[in-house]
Amino acid sequence: GDESDLVVRPPVVTVMGHVDHGKTKLLDALRDANVVDKEAGGITQHIGAYQVHTEVEGEDRRITLIDTPGHEAFTAMRARGAQATDIAILVVAADDGVMPQTVEALNHAKAADVPIVVAVNKIDKPEADSTKVRGQLTEYGLIPEEYGGDAMFVDVSAKAGLNLDKLLEAVVLTADASLDLRANPDQDAQGLVVEAHLDRGRGPVATVLVQRGTLRVGDSIVAGPAHGRVRAMLDEHGNEMTEADPSRPAMVLGLSAVPGAGQNFIVVEDDRMARQIAEKREARERAAMQAKRRV
Ligand code: GTP
Ligand code: NA
Ligand code: MG
Repeated sequence: GDESDLVVRPPVVTVMGHVDHGKTKLLDALRDANVVDKEAGGITQHIGAYQVHTEVEGEDRRITLIDTPGHEAFTAMRARGAQATDIAILVVAADDGVMPQTVEALNHAKAADVPIVVAVNKIDKPEADSTKVRGQLTEYGLIPEEYGGDAMFVDVSAKAGLNLDKLLEAVVLTADASLDLRANPDQDAQGLVVEAHLDRGRGPVATVLVQRGTLRVGDSIVAGPAHGRVRAMLDEHGNEMTEADPSRPAMVLGLSAVPGAGQNFIVVEDDRMARQIAEKREARERAAMQAKRRV
């Protein structure tokens, strides 16, 4: 495809920050308040990534959140050469301020050249000091817009549900201002495995993030050393989906094995080819592991 085949895709966001600063609480609050198609019903599944939406300048905009908080997942993916994240939300508790893992997370995002939006959390607490957080991060080169820098800071309370829409709006505005997020939906899908596990009833279940193209039920895929035909795809409510477009996460059923987080997936012509590629990959991984053991 050429330039004209590209359409805007939602930003993919990872939440990072110091221990107990509220990453999980924030992800839960965003999911509860803004998840897409909530009225469709179903039980919220544990899924490693999901989409939320918010209105920005009169337009409905989607955002994909990776629900494996902490920079460990981010780093694990990067170590595999996978760039899943477009934007990082850096959560800093306004009572605690900047802590060692805040700085680590900041450095990881900088190294990956990923723009940062700061969520100054826990502003419901009497001892919260969001001005102090801004001053501290300025010293690390992350300068708030209101101080003439280019980072958006939003005061939030994950607990009280304060300013969550503002935070999502800041993510969208940051994406629009500094990234060109477009992908071609009209091609065979490729993307990343966000997480995967073995389900007793359903077999291997992988949460994948489509990065290019459109993934459809019935596609033959290779995901890391696993292969198979997409038997079913589920969204964050456990509802069946028939297709997933760029930046859409989906739980994929039908794989032969459990792939690793950060491994990529591709759609191939048919099952036979999928199996062949998967077998080659597995042999290569095995050889690499043996070579490692010899040194
Ligand atoms: P780790 O995953 O252990 O690194 O922690 P986390 O960053 O995911 O923090 P978590 O969401 O578990 O929150 C830590 C504690 O802070 C919990 O007791 C939360 O209820 C509390 N907390 C999170 N957000 C807020 C908030 O906005 N206000 C207040 N008052 N408490 C909050
Ligand atoms: Na915690
Ligand atoms: Mg947590």
